[in-house]
Amino acid sequence: MPSTLTRRRLLIVPLLTLAAAGGWRLWRDESPQIGGPFTLTDGAGKSVTDADFRGRFLLVYFGYTFCPDVCPTALGKLSSVLDRLDKAQLDRLAVVFISVDPQRDHGTRLAEYGHVFHPIITGLTGTREQIDAVAKAYGARYQFAGDTSRDDYAIDHTSVVYVMDPEGRFMTQFTHNATPEAMLSKLQAVLK
Ligand code: NI
Repeated sequence: MPSTLTRRRLLIVPLLTLAAAGGWRLWRDESPQIGGPFTLTDGAGKSVTDADFRGRFLLVYFGYTFCPDVCPTALGKLSSVLDRLDKAQLDRLAVVFISVDPQRDHGTRLAEYGHVFHPIITGLTGTREQIDAVAKAYGARYQFAGDTSRDDYAIDHTSVVYVMDPEGRFMTQFTHNATPEAMLSKLQAVLK
């Protein structure tokens, strides 16, 4: 079983390679080509589409529940920001955690993972085709690292919170290194 350190190395090196290859170009705020229709499944097995979120702002994050540090860090930071919004603001907002790991993330595990960080974070996943379609639409990337026939494989993935407006259009995004203060300020600006 790989140590946490080994997993971190597995995680970081391919991401740096992606960055060097220009894979992050979609991270720029000015890109209008992010988002689109999706059909996924929640932890209860219910089909969920982008249309279910019309009328609310939607935050979208891609990851997987067994992630050793990137997802917990990103979702922990996001939850600290959500905690500083008032109820009226939270009522106009939904958050989806899209797992790229349906092999391990389904049922109760998928349903409860997001809630550990904040009650409004809903876990979704889908078939590989559905996941690849939504990841491509958002410009999110992931890559399996390790033997997926074992239960301890890692997945390298981009770590971005995409902010969509109530009509499902891209507004902005928060990169992994965005500060909670910057995130809060942007969210309060759009939710006011
Ligand atoms: Ni992760």
